[in-house]
Amino acid sequence: MAYETIIVEIEDEVALIRLNRPEALNALNATLLDELSAALTEADRNDKVRCIVLTGSEKAFAAGADIKEMAQKSFVDAYGGDLFGPQIDTISRIRKPIIAAVSGYALGGGCELAMACDFIIAAENAKFGQPEINLGVIAGIGGTQRLTRFVGKSKAMDMNLTGRFMDAAEAERSGLVSRVVPTPKLVSEALSAARKIAEKSQISVMAAKESVNRSYETTLREGLLFERRAFQSMFATEDQKEGMAAFLEKREAQFRDR
Ligand code: HXC
Repeated sequence: MAYETIIVEIEDEVALIRLNRPEALNALNATLLDELSAALTEADRNDKVRCIVLTGSEKAFAAGADIKEMAQKSFVDAYGGDLFGPQIDTISRIRKPIIAAVSGYALGGGCELAMACDFIIAAENAKFGQPEINLGVIAGIGGTQRLTRFVGKSKAMDMNLTGRFMDAAEAERSGLVSRVVPTPKLVSEALSAARKIAEKSQISVMAAKESVNRSYETTLREGLLFERRAFQSMFATEDQKEGMAAFLEKREAQFRDR
């Protein structure tokens, strides 16, 4: 499918989605968010895709929601139209893993979009921030909620109240990103992580993603029970037999998602 604001390539069972509004540092306008939701939904349904990488350009992952498009909106437009709600809900319902590969600015909605993915790999030049406070608003799709769970209250307050940016080293130190890689290698490193995931049994990948995400939604006791039941249910799969037999026979496992 042809898109206006994103580029989608599928290779080696990985869908690479690039945000592509270079004139606006990939600011998230309605078209981009709708196209991204559609592309992610399509990748989730496509049997040839086992993992997704979401990236931007070297200068910007995304510099936030499109300020030009938002500036004239009224409360009725925003609340009545559930501004950004449907698209971000779609992203959080995708069952295949999504890696955010962040280079340059990930600000406001850009930082929030990266956090809505399953994990973030950052380039050395990455800069994260929730500068909405400078525009007389606040974060709207996770900047006060997901960021707090990633980096804790003190840093989340600092970022949301002062609007300052965090560089890649601080983001890694504080747990916002899983790893930092040299800027020119960002996409190849993210694709190589995605290919590694694509080799696993998709059933166990989905169960692992669902179980980690469950930890945000429930108590420790309930989360541990969810995880244990999911773990136990893996013994109903052929892939569990294959994975363990392969280990014992000292060979590579051939998973079949069954
Ligand atoms: C619309 C944007 C934009 C944005 C940049 N541009 N960010 N357009 N919305 N969020 C446009 C600029 O207007 C400019 O277009 C072009 O991209 C290049 O940007 P410059 O500012 O000239 O680049 P630079 O000097 O390098 O500064 C980069 C920057 C700055 C520090 C990232 O652009 C910036 O502060 N952007 C806004 C960041 C922000 O406040 N984000 C939060 C948005 S609110 P022209 O046409 O002038 O060349 C938000 C709410 C989230 O995200 C709520 C839920 C989604």
